[in-house]
Amino acid sequence: MSVAVPDGPTAGAIDDSIEADVAAGAGDPSVLIGDAGSEAARVAVSVPRVDDAPETQGIGWPHRHLLDLDVVTWPEIELVMRTTDAMKEVLARPIPKVPALRGRAVTILFYEASTRTRVSFEVAAKNLSADVVNIAAATSSVTKGESLIDTVRTVEALGADLLVIRHGTSGAPYLAAQHFGGGVLNGGDGWHAHPTQALLDLYTMRARLPGRSLAGRKVVILGDVMHSRVARSNIWALTAAGADLWLCGPSTLLRGFDAWAKAGATAGRTFTVTSDVADALRDADVVMALRVQQERMEGGLLPSLREYAARYGLTRARLANAKPDALVMHPGPMNEGVEIAPDVATMDRSVITDQVSNGVAVRMALLYLMAGVRTGAAASGASAALGPAGTNEAPA
Ligand code: MLT
Repeated sequence: MSVAVPDGPTAGAIDDSIEADVAAGAGDPSVLIGDAGSEAARVAVSVPRVDDAPETQGIGWPHRHLLDLDVVTWPEIELVMRTTDAMKEVLARPIPKVPALRGRAVTILFYEASTRTRVSFEVAAKNLSADVVNIAAATSSVTKGESLIDTVRTVEALGADLLVIRHGTSGAPYLAAQHFGGGVLNGGDGWHAHPTQALLDLYTMRARLPGRSLAGRKVVILGDVMHSRVARSNIWALTAAGADLWLCGPSTLLRGFDAWAKAGATAGRTFTVTSDVADALRDADVVMALRVQQERMEGGLLPSLREYAARYGLTRARLANAKPDALVMHPGPMNEGVEIAPDVATMDRSVITDQVSNGVAVRMALLYLMAGVRTGAAASGASAALGPAGTNEAPA
């Protein structure tokens, strides 16, 4: 459930609070740039103003946790997009660092392998001057039998304000949220959700599409949809954006999505599910290939990777059905030659590396917005001011 929070950050207030912090000396900008006392310096270390666009006027970030996008409204997604624009400006500076999260502690707790998501969360938190702790389950007390709940309580006792968690079990971040006094960001749970990936995908598409709008644009997600948390979170983001969303893959890897599409149709969130690649790709504006997730695959779902590549791999010949300038995307990691041909992955219109770099800016925006929920809370032991544990509600 999402609720409005009167004192959360709003589009217009975001920059003012940081400017005020910096002006009051809280940020000590002198460590970032030379002449900290000047007006130019003060502006240079702050996050640029997020426009008061009609879509985000008066919109605050009400969510204590970011577990999936099903509870995030379109105006809130717009707020994330505009805050990301501001973070892109920060990243374009010679020293891409602001003091926004100085004194805040971000713990990154990953129970599954990751390169992009883990590193970009770390870079994002460091760019905002947070104190960052990384915990890889494989080298932690988890190997001695410590439970998820105990680990989360330990992380909190060690001072974490925000917890970024990836877990192989769907729902694990929801359990973590019930036992953690701060905010939890889901960095990917099982097959279930990967909300920050969907937001960076949306940002990347908008940045490249005329009018920065997905409304009516045909977006195809092609591949192992069944095991993809990226596809599931993208369903929420892309249908909210008004895209004409198609999910395509072998029927064994689409199980359950027809029922979801039908249920969504009644709530105005429609998408198409098909195994016909030519039909799916025809006149597409965006094609996102998904990895065949062999580590999550039961036997019998695919005859062989070779056959999969032959029938569903994204090749130049298949892409010729799409619009001539259709964007090519992939959340990574890629199995080149399986779900995507190497020459397609590196085409001019491939935005796969943009996805990676936009991931830092989107995650900066999210950490920034989520840290803002603590505005007004006591410096420590502030969990009571954050709303009931385990809910997505912010304090009243
Ligand atoms: C994920 O973590 O879900 C990745 O970004 C996609 C994948 O593993 O194929």
